[in-house]
Amino acid sequence: MELNNFFRIRLNTIRPDKVTNFDIFLLVGNKYICFLRAGDKISDGRIEQLRSKDTGNSFFVRVEDKQLYHSWVREEINSSSIDVFSKAKILHESSIALMEDLFENPDVNKALDESRPIINDFIRFMDSSPEAMGFMISLSGHDFYTYSHSLDVSIYSLGLGRALGYNTKDIEELGVGSLFHDIGKRNVSLDILCKKGSLSDPEWEQMKMHPQYGLVILNNNPLISDAVKATCFEHHESWSGNGYPQQLMGDEIHPFARIVAITDTYDAMTTQRSYNVPMKPLDAVNMMKEKLAGRYDPEILKAMYSVLFKLKVAS
Ligand SMILES: [Fe+2]
Ligand SMILES: [Fe+2]
Repeated sequence: MELNNFFRIRLNTIRPDKVTNFDIFLLVGNKYICFLRAGDKISDGRIEQLRSKDTGNSFFVRVEDKQLYHSWVREEINSSSIDVFSKAKILHESSIALMEDLFENPDVNKALDESRPIINDFIRFMDSSPEAMGFMISLSGHDFYTYSHSLDVSIYSLGLGRALGYNTKDIEELGVGSLFHDIGKRNVSLDILCKKGSLSDPEWEQMKMHPQYGLVILNNNPLISDAVKATCFEHHESWSGNGYPQQLMGDEIHPFARIVAITDTYDAMTTQRSYNVPMKPLDAVNMMKEKLAGRYDPEILKAMYSVLFKLKVAS
């Protein structure tokens, strides 16, 4: 059995005593062992015992069952018997697993197509109850998965898009654009991406190419909107005009890229993944407002306060 016949899931997304309609496999050594057959359910005690062993690397579903898994998650999100915080957890955990598959997929067009249902699940969930976005935000920035940065940036951007009054169609584009804002990093060497400590000048030049690389990748997909492309290409521009690669200024920068400029920095500052000690949410936004004044669209930054702080935060 080959690795690309399976995709990773988090066991947290499976509730005990709910029958699944797909097989779940456990990776032991380099073998996939069927752990739960479709039609069976895991008992409460067993799932607790297994969760303690779930490092995020162990449980898998067959690629051909991806739609079944997705529908299963969607059913959970729509269920009236689960509380909003548990739903937020299931949606977040299931998306991290799907993101990994999405970003490792060599077929970018396919990954872009597959991202839309994920974004729509998030939009529907965000709109389903007033506290949904707050719970979603409280789950961001806490884990170590490779692709959670893009997912987190997307979640914050969806919240900002709603707060700024965009319609659902636009928010969907914003969601896809923010999910793929760093797609160009595929073309930056791993040594540079994973280097601990500061980059040399040539390394930094290479890193700064990722918006251009991203645009080239997205241009290969004729169905991708200009808004999605601009989100990727312009997310390192600065409101005051000294960003890169085009040194655009103020309104010249696409509004979605202005949103991602904020959510991207916010995630980098507050996440436990960075090498620095993570900043507290309020300190991070205050720093963007004061010490980094001029870099960000002030109206969008103001909306960021409302998204982050008027909402209830789960412990
Ligand atoms: Fe970036
Ligand atoms: Fe980023």
